[in-house]
Amino acid sequence: MEMSSTQHTIIFGNSKNMKEINDESVHLMVTSPPYYNAPFDYPGLFKSYEEFLQLMADFTTELYRVLASGRIAAFVTDDMLVNGKKFPVVADITKIMVNTGFNYRDKIIWRKPEGYTRISRRSGVVLQHPYPMYFYPDNIQESILIFQKGKFDYNYLKRLDTAIKESSRIDIGEYQGNKWHLTVWDITNVLPLPGRIEEGVAAFPEEIPYRLIKLFSFIGEIVLDPFLGSGTTTKVARMLGRNSYGYELDSELMDIIKKKLNYDQIALNEDRIKFIVREDAQRLRTDIRGRVAKQRSVTKRSTPYSRKPVKEEASLRLLERRRRWITR
Ligand SMILES: C[S@@+](CC[C@H](N)C(=O)[O-])C[C@H]1O[C@@H](n2cnc3c(N)ncnc32)[C@H](O)[C@@H]1O
Repeated sequence: MEMSSTQHTIIFGNSKNMKEINDESVHLMVTSPPYYNAPFDYPGLFKSYEEFLQLMADFTTELYRVLASGRIAAFVTDDMLVNGKKFPVVADITKIMVNTGFNYRDKIIWRKPEGYTRISRRSGVVLQHPYPMYFYPDNIQESILIFQKGKFDYNYLKRLDTAIKESSRIDIGEYQGNKWHLTVWDITNVLPLPGRIEEGVAAFPEEIPYRLIKLFSFIGEIVLDPFLGSGTTTKVARMLGRNSYGYELDSELMDIIKKKLNYDQIALNEDRIKFIVREDAQRLRTDIRGRVAKQRSVTKRSTPYSRKPVKEEASLRLLERRRRWITR
């Protein structure tokens, strides 16, 4: 089948309001919401954890409106360690989605390769203090949470154009060969190395939207990413012949998104990509970069483990002092 051209709308604004999208018109959501105040990507983005949860609650109500009945919403996310305290993001998003009316369908663990992460080497504490109570594991996973709005009507496939149905067929060789059938997906993560367009965006690898789009949407349908970042979902949706909507609060990411989509190279008769900058868009990147740089220099001075948050290190020092006091 010859693939017809696709349409993509990218809106800079807060996705708790997706007024550009009609009710029940989206066939799949794939997203990774902002990692709550992640020390090396979004320090101080939210005033409090409650503010983050409120955004999630407002956003999921809007998501329920735009998602078609029976369809899937997938979140790539993880609990966040901020200043030595772990925030239960995975549990809270699950609860918020269920309270909004979605069915909780599955959880897939995305396992990153050992040694290819930019996490703090927390486990090194045991090497320095090989005694009980010093254990802090290195995190090499995230969750892919899969929710569904009601039940999918499989008669949809009977009504579907045969050519569309057949070109949306899942390649069983790829499905089995790359172990899509398991609840653990081994996928290499994107390292935000200096100079990469994903630097400071916490982008997910293309393989994640690739699998989800193939598994949960048909060619020509509409995929939504309400927290678009560098535009990974739009890029993959386009590659796979799907249309898309993307929302991103930070208008400073426009050039990065354009670069990722090869925007300047797209011929006029090809896919259409439209950018809208709403009045509620913000300019965040420069400010956040500044805060991250400041944080890095403080952390470097305070810890031998390169990425450990400052407060966590302080509480470990306290623990060590107490231990010395106890054993004296
Ligand atoms: C984890 S990143 C997404 C990365 C993306 N998956 C990629 O591959 O590049 C989350 C994004 O959500 C954006 N964001 C935060 N709050 C938002 C909001 N209320 N509405 C829309 N976007 C928001 C952040 O600016 C950030 O770029």
